[in-house]
Amino acid sequence: MKTFYVTTPIYYANSLPHMGHLYTTVVADFLTRYHRQRGFETYFLTGTDEHGTNIERASAKAGRTPKEHVDYIVGELKRMFGAFGLDAAHGGYDIFMRTTEPFHYEGAAEFWRRAAARQTPKGRENIYKGFYEGWFCAPCATFKTEAEMLPPTEEGGPPLCPIHERPLDKVSEESYFFRLSDYEEALLSLYESRPDFVVPEVRRNEVAALVRGGLEDVSISRLKSSVSWAIPVPEDPRHTVYIWFDALINYITALGWGSERRKAEAGDLFEKFWPGVHLIGKDILRQHAVLWPAMLMAAGVELPRAVVAHGLWLDQTGRKGSKTLGNALELPTLLRHFKVDAVRYFLLREMSFGQDCKVDYEVILERSNSDLASGLGNLVSRTLTMIHKYFGGRLPADEIPEPRRLQAKRAGVDSDAQALASSVELVRDQFVQNVEEYAFHRALEAAWGMIARVDKFISDAKPWELARDEAQRETLGAVLYRAAETLRWLAVLLHPVMPESTGAIWNQLGLEGDPRRTDPAELKWGGLRAGAPVGEVAPLFPRIDKGKTMAEIEKEIAQRKEAEAQTALPPSTTHSGAHATQAAVPGAPTAADTKPAQPPTQGATEAVAPPAQAQAQAAPAAAQDTRAPDGVATYITIDDFVKVELRVGEVLTAERVPKSDKLLRFTVDVGEPEPRQILAGIAEHYEPEQVIGRKLVIVSNLKPRKLRGFESQGMVLAASVGEEGRPVLATFTEDVPNGTRLK
Ligand code: MSP
Repeated sequence: MKTFYVTTPIYYANSLPHMGHLYTTVVADFLTRYHRQRGFETYFLTGTDEHGTNIERASAKAGRTPKEHVDYIVGELKRMFGAFGLDAAHGGYDIFMRTTEPFHYEGAAEFWRRAAARQTPKGRENIYKGFYEGWFCAPCATFKTEAEMLPPTEEGGPPLCPIHERPLDKVSEESYFFRLSDYEEALLSLYESRPDFVVPEVRRNEVAALVRGGLEDVSISRLKSSVSWAIPVPEDPRHTVYIWFDALINYITALGWGSERRKAEAGDLFEKFWPGVHLIGKDILRQHAVLWPAMLMAAGVELPRAVVAHGLWLDQTGRKGSKTLGNALELPTLLRHFKVDAVRYFLLREMSFGQDCKVDYEVILERSNSDLASGLGNLVSRTLTMIHKYFGGRLPADEIPEPRRLQAKRAGVDSDAQALASSVELVRDQFVQNVEEYAFHRALEAAWGMIARVDKFISDAKPWELARDEAQRETLGAVLYRAAETLRWLAVLLHPVMPESTGAIWNQLGLEGDPRRTDPAELKWGGLRAGAPVGEVAPLFPRIDKGKTMAEIEKEIAQRKEAEAQTALPPSTTHSGAHATQAAVPGAPTAADTKPAQPPTQGATEAVAPPAQAQAQAAPAAAQDTRAPDGVATYITIDDFVKVELRVGEVLTAERVPKSDKLLRFTVDVGEPEPRQILAGIAEHYEPEQVIGRKLVIVSNLKPRKLRGFESQGMVLAASVGEEGRPVLATFTEDVPNGTRLK
């Protein structure tokens, strides 16, 4: 049997997924279902990349060990992917691959050994020892990347640590290197001899130009004292494996390469499914199209079938959607307001595959209403409703008998289905060809062209008029048969895009068989059987009320931002325990540092149960991120705390804000040349005169925001007492100069 193996990138398990991650996974899911329809045996991998400093930091921030943290993120990710119908239970991925799997540790070590034992095309060793140079912050005990440092205070001086505001040290550390520079020619001839190795062409040209420009060797290990949450280097446990080197190998260890344990558990999947197609965002093209093939050549493993790179989802200002910027569309919001199939359709239809695409919730809503509610959904319901109404719910026949043909012609209906059948055949071929070329948007465009055509065919034939003339009964039947038959085709073509809705169309047409196993390329006209009963008509894509839904979405976004701002503050629930104390001391090892990275012995594949509070329908995603699996607020590190600037401020003036029961408006001296204007929601509990002259605690680096038309340039701290949260202002019993920083 023909086989098809597709992978998504394995996503970093440091934060919750957003629409960007969903996208690649939906495309992989689509391709898998499409290939299954076409008779391929398929294997679909998605999963998580779980090692490295970022994960270590994110886990310390959340007050968890790295393993606890990745388990939590994986639990959430699986739950989200499940909700979008992407998991095994819904016919989606076959493996949720995790780089903390013990079998992956085995396979990755084996890969390293093989590469180390072999030579480059130039006859030199693939892996050698050298020195890694970088900027190091001793109190943080980490190397900083370019993006993580502040510019030097004086020209030619060292850059600064943004946390400690001290100069970084240039440190050189022993490291293993992969001799990538010896693979330039091999890679160039690969791109040349296999033009489909990197898709689309623009990306192939990009990597070819990059390689032609010269390659440098890559540092593929770090001292364990620098990066401890990673796979140990075989035979040299003082070092750990560079996370990209570790992560890329997942694509083959998942199939049992290099691990007897995995082979025993899953069979020889490698033999059966490799080489596969790697679906990635263009942001990680170099690693997949340059480093990975060179690594495979080094270890003597067959290269993948293709590296297929899509573009990125951008916000309306053109910035890449990401968690850090907070501008990516959130999965819980998508789930709450749109049908899963509408989101899947949107993702595949809106983006011209390979190019970047701007997105916001409104465009999704509009497409759902126009293409799905008014387009496909309406065509299904109008066709089936008429079959119920005029033919008692039984499919009429396609044929118009000879004596009736002239009358049919007068009504503008062809005597046979030839013309319509040829145009659906054309759409079928265009659809298949576009999918094979990864032009999903064009495949869907073709399908919607068909919907428009059948809509017009029905409107022109005017079935409601035909129904009034007994002599046109067969003509009416043929019109409805043809419309219904086109719907059968659409159900097959669109099955991989909208598995649930096309299943519903299939059932409403009263069909037997299974769209999941019907090859779109083999569709033939006339599959519907005259006389067969059709099912109940149920709306597929209800219209979304734009005003109401957009207002709800905007409210959720505002709440999420608020929750995000809150996470910068110390948690309201305090805990005792080792993590908190360790985290509070700058430079002290975190819980993660003190634990060696070991392959987990059990439970690696099973994530912790999702927290009740973080159910997709209930809590905004940003809030979920700060919650431990038991739903209790978690720790922040000192690095988080120092982000909040607290200062002493003296209230110079205070007055009520017109038309507001709650707000007082102050001018506050925080030791700056000009006093600040700050608003506080305490007017129900304090008279303005009570506050004038008092020294309060001010959050002085809070982003200014407008309240009732006034800009508040900071926030006043108060205890929140009792059930109703009565504010009691935080103040000082001794005199302190205005502007003094609280630490
Ligand atoms: N862990 C690495 C990949 C290792 S693969 C061996 C990584 N992870 S990631 O969490 O950052 O995910 C990157 C992938 O997520 C991108 O390549 C892309 O597939 C998807 N996306 C994340 N944000 C995206 C957009 N804004 N738009 C489209 N997809 C993007 O890199």
